[in-house]
Amino acid sequence: MEQAKNKLVVVTGAGGFIGGHLVAHLRAQGYKKLRAIDAKPLGEWEQQFVDVENLSLDLNLKENCETAADGAYEIYNLAANMGGMGFIEHNKALCMLSILINTHMLQAALHHGVQRYFYSSSACVYNADRQKTFEAPSLKEEDAYPAMAEDGYGWEKLFSERMCRHFREDFGLTTRLARFHNVYGPHGTWEGGREKAPAAICRKVIEAKASGRHEIEIWGTGEQTRSFMYIDDCLKGIDKIMRSEIVDAINLGSSEAVSINQLVDIAEEIAGIKLKRSYKLDAPKGVNGRNSDNTLIQNLLGWEPNTPLRVGLEKTYRWIYDEYSQKQQGRAVSAFSGAR
Ligand code: GDD
Repeated sequence: MEQAKNKLVVVTGAGGFIGGHLVAHLRAQGYKKLRAIDAKPLGEWEQQFVDVENLSLDLNLKENCETAADGAYEIYNLAANMGGMGFIEHNKALCMLSILINTHMLQAALHHGVQRYFYSSSACVYNADRQKTFEAPSLKEEDAYPAMAEDGYGWEKLFSERMCRHFREDFGLTTRLARFHNVYGPHGTWEGGREKAPAAICRKVIEAKASGRHEIEIWGTGEQTRSFMYIDDCLKGIDKIMRSEIVDAINLGSSEAVSINQLVDIAEEIAGIKLKRSYKLDAPKGVNGRNSDNTLIQNLLGWEPNTPLRVGLEKTYRWIYDEYSQKQQGRAVSAFSGAR
């Protein structure tokens, strides 16, 4: 690790939520040569740092992956087309196309002699049959097989995991794989269609409070269960897994399962409000229940993500509240100047 701090380390997907935090985290740990890459134009990144080499490149294209990996000592590949259920259910082809990014990045990493390669997989790789019950089934790593992953997004992740494994076994590339379980926190998408449940529920509560219409629409019956991992735990876990000798894909998620109704309870409590709930039963729902079984990560690393949902959600709520308020102020100013 100390060695990597003075060598070129590349983060892809750096304009997004987790990638942006990862660049900030590596900087704070004393990594001196960082290259941050994202397909989004530079002005649209969630976080950006002047002492980092920032590149706007579409990593679907092989030649751009070659540029990305040139001179790199380590690579964290977080670039992908992704989002919450509302996005992945309606964009299966786009999600599958992320296979190009990981494939080209692996080839480029090998070509440029990269020492270590991190791939962010997902809880969406798990077999759907194991997630039919609302009682939050704890998913162990072996539950990905026999394979019946989330349509589109999950299959791409599972295939990419295998691609990493075969590059390690056949070509000797050192790869590390973590299966993220629904990550949330400040700088996560909170509007526009790609937002996941924690941010979406915070936004809806904030909007209800601001408008005085004390109502909230919840997708599904609200009985669906999930565990949500706060971003700080995700960063800690990425570090630990990257530095470990764990070669197979491992869960990186919280084991604090809640129903979506309970998630709404917590957001209401933070906001100090009670809302009338309605349930949109034909909205995208995904699996009925999902939790992270953390036996393996506890055994191998003596640690698991442990930020209580109440604590992480409060920080997220405050951040979304500020973003929402700024946006409303911007609207009010432009309406005022338009009226003159
Ligand atoms: N997004 C969203 N917005 N979900 C809502 C809402 C809402 O307003 N209201 C209720 N839900 C419900 C969804 O119907 C779903 O049952 C549950 O909340 C969780 O939804 P998401 O957070 O959007 O997605 P997910 O947990 O099913 O999957 C996410 O996490 C995976 C990793 O654990 C996705 O981001 C996947 O891409 C990711 O791999």
